[in-house]
Amino acid sequence: MLAGKRILLIVGGGIAAYKVPELVRALRSAGAGVTPVLTPAGSRFVTPLTLAALAGEAVRSELFDLDAEARMGHIELSRAADLVVIAPATADLMARMATGQADDLASTLLLATDKPVLIAPAMNVRMWEHPATRRNLATLLADGVRVVGPNPGEMACGEWGPGRMAEPAEIRAAIETCLGGGPLAGRHVIVTSGPTREPIDPVRYIANRSSGAQGAAIGRALAHLGARVTFVTGPAAVPPPPGVTVVPVETAAEMKAAVEAALPADAAVLAAAVADWRVAEASAGKIKKDGSGRTPRLDLVENPDILAGLAQRSGGRPRLVVGFAAETGDVAENAAAKRRRKGCDWIVANDVRPETGIMGGTENAVMLITPEGAESWPRMGKDAVARRLAERIAAALA
Ligand code: CTP
Repeated sequence: MLAGKRILLIVGGGIAAYKVPELVRALRSAGAGVTPVLTPAGSRFVTPLTLAALAGEAVRSELFDLDAEARMGHIELSRAADLVVIAPATADLMARMATGQADDLASTLLLATDKPVLIAPAMNVRMWEHPATRRNLATLLADGVRVVGPNPGEMACGEWGPGRMAEPAEIRAAIETCLGGGPLAGRHVIVTSGPTREPIDPVRYIANRSSGAQGAAIGRALAHLGARVTFVTGPAAVPPPPGVTVVPVETAAEMKAAVEAALPADAAVLAAAVADWRVAEASAGKIKKDGSGRTPRLDLVENPDILAGLAQRSGGRPRLVVGFAAETGDVAENAAAKRRRKGCDWIVANDVRPETGIMGGTENAVMLITPEGAESWPRMGKDAVARRLAERIAAALA
């Protein structure tokens, strides 16, 4: 998995940097090339000589180092790697990444790279739990940055709690997952997400309140486990996750065509809030008020059911088809009936009554309906729901 891969390793300034030489040695002995970048603070904890000797390569530390730039410019450096790893990732480095600063070599590389980024945070427990760090972490996760650790334990400062950098063996395992060695490596999963828009005329449409947040989190979680993800998305309020193939669509008909074009797939997770109806004949020109006070009539026709169509395919059906159910009544019963009616394997059901705040919110309380029955999951963040679902999908496809 690691043989022939190149890792750009940014070493931040924390006591945990003492574990980095061991990580470099493990990566090198697995056949990976390591390009070390030492921040000025990092060089207080580990010497350039140690890193250079273990990596077998010169250490980069200055943005404006003419000699080093002449050998390889920093933009090229940020792209020549297969993966960028930051260990230890200090609170300061995380904050600078989250705000997109580029005033030294490490931050500039992080802003310029088009490769996946993995961070191994390490800091005092209070710094880790500070709302500012939580905010920065949420931003980094939303940007697609992957995180390993920190682990709970005794800290160098004498306090106890989460903040210790993950062990080199854990970081190495996370690197392998990032490089495609996860449990879904080699699997193709189609995800639909967001609302659809059904035109009334060139300026108006029928849509719904879906933000696409749950679908994006699912796409990200599946990609983190190594899946190749085709992400078919209507016009969502949140950006699509990095590391997936994005297919933007607008209407239900376009979404259906995009899903079919993406086959074959091992699994499909249809999280989109597809509009059930479209206007029978959208007007080619903008519908005008005619001054009579009469209101226009909209004739609606039902959209094709993408989920039922996929689940009931005779040939080329994905092995696992997962639907969603947005319910406002008896969630378990309605969702179980929906599962049978549509022919999908699982349904992730959620209660979208306005008082739950789920539609458009950051949390979700779902029930997973399988042929074996219904499981209630505790209320948790949409990212946590996505990770749990992705793990279940990985287990089902194993
Ligand atoms: N779905 C779909 N195509 C449609 C409508 C829905 O693929 N035209 C999918 C959604 O992506 C979701 C599931 O079907 O995975 C359930 O959608 P939901 O709106 O909750 O249920 P409906 O089928 O519309 O049933 P009802 O509105 O009667 O509850």
